[in-house]
Amino acid sequence: MHTQEEEFYRAILIVAAVVGTILLYFIITAIRYHRKSIRMHKDKIQAEIDTLENERRRIASDLHDELGPLLSAVKLQINNIETVGEQDQQLVVKSSQHIDSIIQKLREISNNLMPNTLLRKGLKSGIEELAETYKKASRLEIKFNCDQEIRLDQNKEINLYRIVQEVLHNTIKHSGANLLLISLRKDDNRILLATADNGKGFDYFSKSKELKGLGLRNLQSRTEVMGGELICNSQPGKGVTYIFDIPV
Ligand SMILES: Nc1ncnc2c1ncn2[C@@H]1O[C@H](COP(=O)(O)OP(=O)(O)OP(=O)(O)O)[C@@H](O)[C@H]1O
Ligand SMILES: [Mg+2]
Repeated sequence: MHTQEEEFYRAILIVAAVVGTILLYFIITAIRYHRKSIRMHKDKIQAEIDTLENERRRIASDLHDELGPLLSAVKLQINNIETVGEQDQQLVVKSSQHIDSIIQKLREISNNLMPNTLLRKGLKSGIEELAETYKKASRLEIKFNCDQEIRLDQNKEINLYRIVQEVLHNTIKHSGANLLLISLRKDDNRILLATADNGKGFDYFSKSKELKGLGLRNLQSRTEVMGGELICNSQPGKGVTYIFDIPV
């Protein structure tokens, strides 16, 4: 009887051990699968962003390096035309001025596609230039606070720049705000980008679920590929604040 009881308990123990091992196996497999799918999702977003930015870089350099010199050559040729009357002379001057404006516009478009200052000097200078451009083009007051030039790997710099660009676009387009504060700070192991507008605010949670605009989704996916965290605080009537906390 005594050994029978012992055998019974031993059998239960063995069954429990087998069930436990199987359960553990399934749990580990599920965790591995989950991690793999997160990694694949991140890789997919990274590939999409890379394709987009490479395409922008290509178009920007085609515009700058090929169309720019061609237009300058055309301008030179027009200026060398020998005119006979006053009317012809005016026509040449006008055409030359038009070509100047086209060259200027091309520069702006090319810079918008791939910001030169950002690539050459870094995030602080890149965002300062961006803020200046938007200040001139809108009635929004932009205060940018950053006490040091920040250099990161180029993908991160471009991602953070595009994030600021989208926040600026949205503030001008949707918020009705007259002030946008932007601050950028680098600690030993992270970048903190914070923005705040004083506009009408919106419901971030429901708007980011809508599939109409691309902007909010891009803020999320660019933060995600950098392994960072996005916190948005907004209530109708109380403006919008964002914090992007990015490890470096
Ligand atoms: N700063 C803001 N203040 C008020 N509403 C905002 C603000 N930012 C975004 N929104 C709201 O969130 C919506 C979604 O923004 P999102 O950037 O995704 O799209 P969009 O700006 O309309 O289009 P896209 O960015 O693709 O050009 C906007 O249509 C607007 O209603
Ligand atoms: Mg937008």
